[in-house]
Amino acid sequence: MERSRRGRRFALGLLFGLWVTCCVAQTTPPNRVSPAPSPSPRAPQLRVRLAGYPRKHNEGRIELFHKGEWGTVCDDDFSIANAHVLCRQLGFVEATGWTHSAKYGKGQGKIWLDNVLCNGGERSIDSCKSRGWGNSDCTHDEDAGVVCKDERIPGFVDSNVIDAQVDENKLEEVRLRPVVATAKKKLPVTEGVVEVKYKDGWAQICDLGWTIKNTRVVCGMLGFPHERKVNKSFYRLYLERQKNHFHIHSVACTGTEVHLAACPMEFSKPNATSSCSGGLPAVVSCMPGPLFMQNSGLKKKLKISSNVRLKGGARPGEGRVEVLKDNEWGTVCDDRWNLLSASVVCRELGFGSAKEALTGARMGQGMGPIYMNEVKCVGQEKSIWNCPFKNITSENCQHMEDAAVRCNVPYMGLENSIRITGGRTRYEGRVEVLSSDSNGTQSWGLICGESWTTKEAMVACRQLGLGYANQGLQETWYWDSSNVTEMVMSGVKCVGNEMSLSQCQHHRAVSCQKAAAKFAAGVICSETASDLVLNASLVQQTVYIEDRPLHMLYCAAEEDCLSKSAAKANWPYGHRRLLRFSSQIHNIGRADFKPKAGRHSWVWHACHGHYHSMDIFTHYDLLNANGTKVAEGHKASFCLEDTDCQEGVSKRYECANFGDQGITVGCWDLYRHDIDCQWIDITDVKPGNYIMQIVINPNCEVAESDFTNNAMKCNCKYDGHRIWFHNCHIGDAFSEEAERLFEKYPGQLNNKIS
Ligand SMILES: *[C@@H]1O[C@H](CO)[C@@H](O)[C@H](O)[C@H]1NC(C)=O
Ligand SMILES: *[C@@H]1O[C@H](CO)[C@@H](O)[C@H](O)[C@H]1NC(C)=O
Ligand SMILES: *[C@@H]1O[C@H](CO)[C@@H](O)[C@H](O)[C@H]1NC(C)=O
Ligand SMILES: *[C@@H]1O[C@H](CO)[C@@H](O)[C@H](O)[C@H]1NC(C)=O
Ligand SMILES: *[C@@H]1O[C@H](CO)[C@@H](O)[C@H](O)[C@H]1NC(C)=O
Ligand SMILES: *[C@@H]1O[C@H](CO)[C@@H](O)[C@H](O)[C@H]1NC(C)=O
Ligand SMILES: *[C@@H]1O[C@H](CO)[C@@H](O)[C@H](O)[C@H]1NC(C)=O
Repeated sequence: MERSRRGRRFALGLLFGLWVTCCVAQTTPPNRVSPAPSPSPRAPQLRVRLAGYPRKHNEGRIELFHKGEWGTVCDDDFSIANAHVLCRQLGFVEATGWTHSAKYGKGQGKIWLDNVLCNGGERSIDSCKSRGWGNSDCTHDEDAGVVCKDERIPGFVDSNVIDAQVDENKLEEVRLRPVVATAKKKLPVTEGVVEVKYKDGWAQICDLGWTIKNTRVVCGMLGFPHERKVNKSFYRLYLERQKNHFHIHSVACTGTEVHLAACPMEFSKPNATSSCSGGLPAVVSCMPGPLFMQNSGLKKKLKISSNVRLKGGARPGEGRVEVLKDNEWGTVCDDRWNLLSASVVCRELGFGSAKEALTGARMGQGMGPIYMNEVKCVGQEKSIWNCPFKNITSENCQHMEDAAVRCNVPYMGLENSIRITGGRTRYEGRVEVLSSDSNGTQSWGLICGESWTTKEAMVACRQLGLGYANQGLQETWYWDSSNVTEMVMSGVKCVGNEMSLSQCQHHRAVSCQKAAAKFAAGVICSETASDLVLNASLVQQTVYIEDRPLHMLYCAAEEDCLSKSAAKANWPYGHRRLLRFSSQIHNIGRADFKPKAGRHSWVWHACHGHYHSMDIFTHYDLLNANGTKVAEGHKASFCLEDTDCQEGVSKRYECANFGDQGITVGCWDLYRHDIDCQWIDITDVKPGNYIMQIVINPNCEVAESDFTNNAMKCNCKYDGHRIWFHNCHIGDAFSEEAERLFEKYPGQLNNKIS
């Protein structure tokens, strides 16, 4: 009903035989290692921290940050109700006790609150009754403390702890300084002296009492999944001769922390070295994941998880978490999703600890089953599958709640050998790469635009750290060309998942037909992209055969929706046998899907009465066992619109009246089985077993965050009268093993994949 006015595709009778057409597996589009994203904006809230000694991560002197200054709370009238409020602000479920008389030592500076009287349910201590900020008759001998129950509030992000410590002793950044003797220019740096940034300088950590657990935390922050032992005697020779700047000592991580700042530690006065007598600067060694490893021999030994993956992220180490069960991929629900569980996922995939545990499908929604809920990793598990979790009971989770991660990844410096110039924004421009001549002099140069496509542009944008490529441009004459450089590269051909252009094939000599800078390769990058996916179960449910009389097919013939033999039919007598089904195309990405061509170039289709905005939008094919096309492949164009949307999303695109065409994120475009041309003409097909295949956006004309899910396949059995579809699934839904079984299918009907 929705769409009966609109037929939407026309066939040119071209034959397309390949199964995954243009674009390449991009499970986790690798990319340059980017700096930490800016912290998500939070409502300004009172900051609370635990201080003093001998404290633990869940107990200590209470300190509040007010008017730019940390101060304490007086113990007069203090109660367990106050402690409950404070513990919750610190991310713990409740308090088990409180302390008086400066049990954790005397604080310094202001005594911010006195005679505090909470009733226990307040969200923040500043909502409780008190004498008011800074109004107190106490001394620091009366500083109050709390003991919190060692159980975190579900989903509580540890940033409070981190912020609190960062504030005074800025432990924001950690780096490894390679020791001269072992220093190689190779990135990533995996071994060296630990240095932490605080206030304005870098400081070293005293290694007395340093444990491999501390090393694990440092490695995780630097993007490495595993820690290694170091040969201390090797470093001793060198380090004893150095002037060392200790500032931190007695670090005692448990190994599961995602940030060094979350570990108990002590700070010394800036110039005091006495706190580390007999000690040396802490040295760590980390093991990079396979993606970041230089030594390819080792690469094979290190296996990353094959039943967990990340989808929909713009950078390596970020994406929606997907897990494999019974040979089918599914998602994880975000209830209780936190940094600990996220870190387990990150490490098992060869990244470091998690930088962010994202909830609410921030990396797009999945399409398949949802397998896990309330995942509660301790942090030491080898895989998310070893963590306690709950099964999904009917309807307690939806894809809107898909969990995602952003992992720490090692710094590779890939962005230093690429830049873009001439564009109007920092996301677009001509691509320039750094190359060195025979004398070793480095210079920037352009890339020939010939054969430059979205695939190559994807790699360039990834290397630049700018996300996805919206477009790869072969001509860039319309951009500012006042400072163009020489053309130094041509014939670039990428597979699509490379981390930098240097990993793609290219010609050594520049062989470019049009050497002028206006034909230099350009990119328009984008942090987000669309992602189209076909609803496979709908195809399976709606398939049928119709013998349609020729007299009803004039319009279809005009639009080339019938196979070639139709031309020889005895019009208007006889019929064509049509394989019909509905297809529903969802945009599960993070940007709207829009045709590449502007409306000026849309084509009017008089017969169906609407404009087509994309020449090739879908291929519908019937293949035999050896992949040969048996029903004529159709090159289908559509008019794109939002037929319907998920709850809370409104429609924006419609075909009627030369409206804007596209598919909004969270919406879908439905082509009902009963509209003209929504079929494959199988008049000439013999009975047998086949594979039915639909590919959306087959030439990758429009950028998507993931092209592996653009194809959908079904097993198909045709007995000459009726037709059955089985195992309909999108390209990335099954395990590799199940996919191999599937391909063998024709001839094995009902052998359901499981
Ligand atoms: C540790 O380093 C020292 C000094 O370079 C060297 O003599 C020793 O063999 C090394 N030990 C191991 C186990 O590699
Ligand atoms: C501490 O070091 C800083 C700079 O390194 C210096 O300016 C200052 O005088 C030193 N203080 C003491 C007490 O040595
Ligand atoms: C979850 O379901 C699986 C089977 O699908 C079952 O083996 C497992 O015991 C269930 N776990 C819980 C916690 O119910
Ligand atoms: C290399 O250096 C030599 C001497 O400085 C110079 O003559 C030559 O032109 C340089 N070659 C290149 C390719 O720059
Ligand atoms: C071109 O280069 C000159 C000198 O390096 C610089 O001053 C100028 O801003 C550049 N122009 C543009 C448009 O980048
Ligand atoms: C896919 O189609 C099936 C069958 O009509 C339907 O039940 C399901 O809700 C659809 N999936 C989505 C994500 O809309
Ligand atoms: C593929 O199968 C068809 C019939 O099923 C056969 O005619 C053709 O020779 C086969 N092609 C190859 C390359 O095996």
